Amino acid sequence: MKNIIESLSFRNFRNLEETVMNFSPDINIIYGDNGMGKTNIIETIFICSTGRSHRTHKISSLINYEKESANIVLYKNNGFYKDKINISLRENERKGVALNGVPLKRISDLFGNVKVVMFSPEDMSLINEGPGARRRFMDMELCQLSRIYCDNLEKYFKVLKQRNNLLKNSNDVKYIKDSLYIWNSQLVEYGKKIIMAREEFIKNISAFSEEIYKRITGGREKLGVYYRPESLAEEFGTKLEKSIDRDIYYKMTHNGPHKDDVVFKINDRDVRVFGSQGQKKSAVLALKLSETEVIKKETNEMPVLLLDDVMSELDRGRQKFILENIKGMQIIMTCTGIDDLIYGKSGENKAVFFVNYGKITVKK
Ligand SMILES: Nc1ncnc2c1ncn2[C@@H]1O[C@H](COP(=O)(O)OP(=O)(O)OP(=O)(O)O)[C@@H](O)[C@H]1O
Ligand SMILES: [Mg+2]
Repeated sequence: MKNIIESLSFRNFRNLEETVMNFSPDINIIYGDNGMGKTNIIETIFICSTGRSHRTHKISSLINYEKESANIVLYKNNGFYKDKINISLRENERKGVALNGVPLKRISDLFGNVKVVMFSPEDMSLINEGPGARRRFMDMELCQLSRIYCDNLEKYFKVLKQRNNLLKNSNDVKYIKDSLYIWNSQLVEYGKKIIMAREEFIKNISAFSEEIYKRITGGREKLGVYYRPESLAEEFGTKLEKSIDRDIYYKMTHNGPHKDDVVFKINDRDVRVFGSQGQKKSAVLALKLSETEVIKKETNEMPVLLLDDVMSELDRGRQKFILENIKGMQIIMTCTGIDDLIYGKSGENKAVFFVNYGKITVKK
């Protein structure tokens, strides 16, 4: 079943003028010059899907400079259900999230409702930044796929925080040792589940992305994606036990999935160290397209593909590859100009929007 965003409206969101956008179930092109508000539109969709922005943690940055609150309303349809998601943003307050008019207690309850895969310039952090960005990638995806994963992750971090607080706030070694075992057993319980889920996820991603990357490069290069858990699931408990003295000395938890990483290799060499700009971009693209395959496989649902500014970053061959290889999904993409390639064949079901200083107009 295909996830379709039917419409999107917003008020006081960044520089966007209040409006309702009615999307095509197939291809949607949002174009305009730099700084006009294209990414802001993509950002509203991402927030409705994941509860968070991909660009900032600060709610105040999302609200128009001259206003105190903002809101977003998105209607989605996945073939079975039509849902309304409502996000309200107010300075210095928690985000308000409602599904079909009913407020959600936790933002994480939103996960998986509108399934999206986004590819934006910010995603280069997957390769260019530290392991945190790669753990976030796994977690964001797995949370869309499984409520249980999301739950375990939340519990893991809660226990980790309590364990670290104990290590930080007490100098009584005997007391710490006596208390640690409670936290250890819970940390291992949730941690193991996270490690196993990540392992399975990367195995899936790796199989798809190897194939996709091969097609992108015409078979000239081979991409490998490898999960590098800090501890394997079965050894996590023992490692945690063994490291107790070190943890007490440094007042922090050294072992566990909060230290995991993922390695990308092209022709068996680490892309982070040896990859060219183009190879890095193509690797991330392969990864993102694999995400859509994994979502399809695991949930039987086709995610919405958000492509922010992707075309301008790629040569024509790769642009063509994307457009020809994305089938059966709703696409919402931004670009600075539309040429024949992006505009596609006539007769395709598409909507075109022009953005100028935050004002959105529909192009016929
Ligand atoms: N809180 C805010 N209130 C008002 N305007 C804002 C706010 N935050 C950002 N902006 C404006 O939004 C614009 C940036 O929008 P956006 O990032 O969507 O541009 P874009 O069309 O994607 O450009 P590019 O092609 O360069 O990526 C800037 O002009 C910025 O000043
Ligand atoms: Mg942009």
